[in-house]
Amino acid sequence: MSTETPAEGERLHAVEMSERTPVMRARNLVKRYGRVTALNGSDLELYPGEILAVIGDNGAGKSSLIKALSGALVPDSGEIWLDGEEVRFRTPMDARTAGIETVYQTLAVAPGLDIADNLFLGREIRKPGPLGSVLRMLDRKQMRSEAQRHMGELGIATLQNIGQAVESLSGGQRQGVAVARSAAFGSKVVILDEPTAALGVKEGNRVLQLIRDVRDRGLPVILISHNMPHVFEVADRIHIQRLGRRVAVVTPASHSMSDTVAIMTGAAPPPPLE
Ligand SMILES: Nc1ncnc2c1ncn2[C@@H]1O[C@H](COP(=O)(O)OP(=O)(O)O)[C@@H](O)[C@H]1O
Ligand SMILES: [Mg+2]
Repeated sequence: MSTETPAEGERLHAVEMSERTPVMRARNLVKRYGRVTALNGSDLELYPGEILAVIGDNGAGKSSLIKALSGALVPDSGEIWLDGEEVRFRTPMDARTAGIETVYQTLAVAPGLDIADNLFLGREIRKPGPLGSVLRMLDRKQMRSEAQRHMGELGIATLQNIGQAVESLSGGQRQGVAVARSAAFGSKVVILDEPTAALGVKEGNRVLQLIRDVRDRGLPVILISHNMPHVFEVADRIHIQRLGRRVAVVTPASHSMSDTVAIMTGAAPPPPLE
């Protein structure tokens, strides 16, 4: 049992955090669309082994921020580091190649394809030798067994449903496929934009568990969500985005849900950043 008081625990946690190298770090990101400023000097830090929730009102710049981190937009200025090295992503493929997998809010699964095909969409495994390299033949057996392994690790698929068309799955199962795909291919960071927004209570909880599993297997997660109970259930830290920038970082231990929402909406002043 720890004998620290909560305040000491907080402080030690803060010290420990400041001594670790962030997996991902952004400084002073700016993105303007004509006269609209989507990102107004936004910072972000993601540490190893954590779920970082990003919250904010509509228009606060959450999507723009994660698009900058995932190569879907190029910021006008500012810097991004991955494992201590500066990166400049020009396309989503640049970020994927660097180990960052993103599940966007508009769910990117192909309904007519089965789970295995969805898992390997865009990076199909070809047969060895000229059959694959020249004739571009797919190695379905290998993909199926790898899909089985990845989905099995996260407790999603069974031998029965791995060949099932994704359109026959429930919303939560589809979201599970998308999250599993990001966990299977992301080697550094997984970014999820509102993964539980369209789901019922039970399915939402299942996806939350999946997010914890991804974190516990060693991949840090950035979770954008409007659902405060979900955020408070799984987040290690909560990044509060407001008017295009980060105004505070709180934790479920340091702040109540209503205090957090007050900071988010501007009803309460943000606590000083470390
Ligand atoms: N492609 C775009 N063109 C013009 N304005 C945009 C575009 N994308 C975002 N914006 C504007 O930038 C601001 C931040 O948007 P966004 O990053 O989507 O916020 P959030 O995801 O927090 O709702 C909003 O005012 C939005 O209207
Ligand atoms: Mg958004």
